[in-house]
Amino acid sequence: MHLLIMGAPGSGKGTCAVELKNHYSIPHISTGDIFRKAISDKTTTGLLAQSYIDKGQLVPDEITNQIVKERLSEKDCQKGFLLDGFPRNLEQAKALSNILNELNIKLDAAINLEIEDKIVEERIVNRRICSKCGRGYNIISLKPKIEGICDVCGGSLYQRKDDTKETIEERLHIYNNQTKPIITYYNELGILVSVNSNQTPQKVIEDIINQVNSNDNI
Ligand code: AP5
Ligand code: MG
Repeated sequence: MHLLIMGAPGSGKGTCAVELKNHYSIPHISTGDIFRKAISDKTTTGLLAQSYIDKGQLVPDEITNQIVKERLSEKDCQKGFLLDGFPRNLEQAKALSNILNELNIKLDAAINLEIEDKIVEERIVNRRICSKCGRGYNIISLKPKIEGICDVCGGSLYQRKDDTKETIEERLHIYNNQTKPIITYYNELGILVSVNSNQTPQKVIEDIINQVNSNDNI
């Protein structure tokens, strides 16, 4: 299954991706995670990406498209993948179509998580992430059993540097102006699957799987 998941910052892409990658046994490819790893490894790409991410802006297309092209060319992506956070504008969407054509891969569905801005702001400021396994938590809606500690691996939880109120406003502005138009792009390709993300994570995931499985184009 070749899938992508899109939606506003904090709409739940990462939360759903963890379950979907297990359900479909496919790799989860998050451009945000790739950049955060590059930042922590202090690579040239990481240093460059950091200057954009800290401000809530998009990393330039030529860098992002190249990273995605290289990752999708790896062998494990032939049987499927779940792209998270890419594409984020029409140029990236067109670049992805070209990459997939070259690789002879057909995208099965573009999952769109629908949610209001005011809900995502609250979700993001309360998000915590495990520094060891990357699992996401929320101090309001998805609390760890022990404060500050991951339930699964015992790693300590941290807050993302771009999860501040000011940066979230910029990220939402960019989402609404640059990313939203790709919903129409995938609707016209006939592979759009839209799901209400203002439900429990379990219900959101159930709705995604049901809709993806009933999509005639798959
Ligand atoms: P990225 O890492 O992709 O961040 P984002 O798009 O802003 O999305 P988030 O990861 O913040 O949210 P999410 O939708 O994954 O939500 P989550 O599941 O964590 O990108 C970061 C930056 O990298 C970008 O700003 C940009 O600079 C750069 N970048 C990345 N890709 C790029 C690209 N293609 N081009 C250029 N630049 C790029 O959930 C959020 C919170 O809500 C959690 O606490 C969670 O527990 C909670 N939650 C989730 N679902 C529910 C639910 N159903 N009910 C209640 N709470 C929930
Ligand atoms: Mg995410």
